[in-house]
Amino acid sequence: MDRIRLGIIGLGRLGRHHAENIRFRIPNAELRAVCSVVKEEVDAALRDLQPAYGTTDYRTLLQDKELDGVVIATTSAYHCEMICAAADAGVRNIYCEKPLGMNQTEIDRIWDTVTRRGVRVFQIGFNRRFDRSIRSLKEKIDAGRIGKPIVIKFLNRDPLWKEEDLLRFSPTSGGLVFDMLTHDYDLARWILASDAVSVYGNGGVYFYKGLEPLGDIDNCTLLVKFKNGVMGFFETSRNSSYGYHVEIEVFGTEGAMRMGYPPSRDRLESLTVGGLGRECPRWFFEYWEPTFQAELQHFVDCIAQGKEPEVGLEDGYKAVEWALAATQAVQMNKEVPLK
Ligand SMILES: NC(=O)c1ccc[n+]([C@@H]2O[C@H](COP(=O)([O-])OP(=O)(O)OC[C@H]3O[C@@H](n4cnc5c(N)ncnc54)[C@H](O)[C@@H]3O)[C@@H](O)[C@H]2O)c1
Repeated sequence: MDRIRLGIIGLGRLGRHHAENIRFRIPNAELRAVCSVVKEEVDAALRDLQPAYGTTDYRTLLQDKELDGVVIATTSAYHCEMICAAADAGVRNIYCEKPLGMNQTEIDRIWDTVTRRGVRVFQIGFNRRFDRSIRSLKEKIDAGRIGKPIVIKFLNRDPLWKEEDLLRFSPTSGGLVFDMLTHDYDLARWILASDAVSVYGNGGVYFYKGLEPLGDIDNCTLLVKFKNGVMGFFETSRNSSYGYHVEIEVFGTEGAMRMGYPPSRDRLESLTVGGLGRECPRWFFEYWEPTFQAELQHFVDCIAQGKEPEVGLEDGYKAVEWALAATQAVQMNKEVPLK
């Protein structure tokens, strides 16, 4: 069978890695085109990954009728513009990194354009759904292993950032509550097969004082009520002194299921005068690396086999709605209802 020809827009921290996966690790895909506004990134990709061509103008790539699909991995503020431009240009299959958009107007515009233009496969970059442990947790909960869920807990801690990097990243990210918890909003509604009805939030600047003038924070906690009665607790931080740490726990009427504890880079344990030790993961990328390949493999297979993606437009839309409500809840320190 012919390989699925993809073009990628955005060759930064994540986009470059997506491009490498398409080029080297997804056998039924071909990396046909690359694009970034940074010419050096395009030149490096042309040299290392040998696509048919590279460009600094994403509209050139969208006019390429040889492409079967487009992967958008640009700064979040460009997702709306690029998804809509791709759909308007007749691109039939689109993968976009999370978040879908930055506000209600953007996600409504995307919803309207993608559905009106009849985009066939639309996948949003919730890579954690492709994690083996999380998939197993969901399967077992669905099978009734822990009875009826009562509480779901998420913990999401970034290792210490260099303050200058965080201050550069913050203004384009949508802020801690919007950006950092986006995967958890999606996972919670997927695992529980239920949407949130309300969110209450707390948060502030505890570590990076430079965030204050930007209106961003570095730590927060949320309490969430779900339609099916489950209670949710979410905690997130930008300043974990010991490393990257993600945990999920679901407690039910017949037991509990937990993933991610203790945070571990690998399966090694050391026994020394300091006691029992395990190294923590250092950064999100190494922890989730296999899921980035798996999600793009899924996108390519959906195109090749005419399947619906497991994680699509509605999931991206709902996560942003939730992120907006949670941001408001933390800013106003009150309970905010969701639609
Ligand atoms: N799924 C995850 O776990 C995860 C992790 C990190 C980042 N992300 C998402 O991935 C996206 C990219 O993040 P990043 O950390 O790689 O960002 P980055 O800043 O490292 O890279 C952004 C890229 O977009 C390109 N770009 C920006 N504007 C452009 C334009 N107008 N035309 C063409 N190219 C343009 C830049 O040149 C650069 O190559 C963000 O939306 C972010 O939310 C997802």
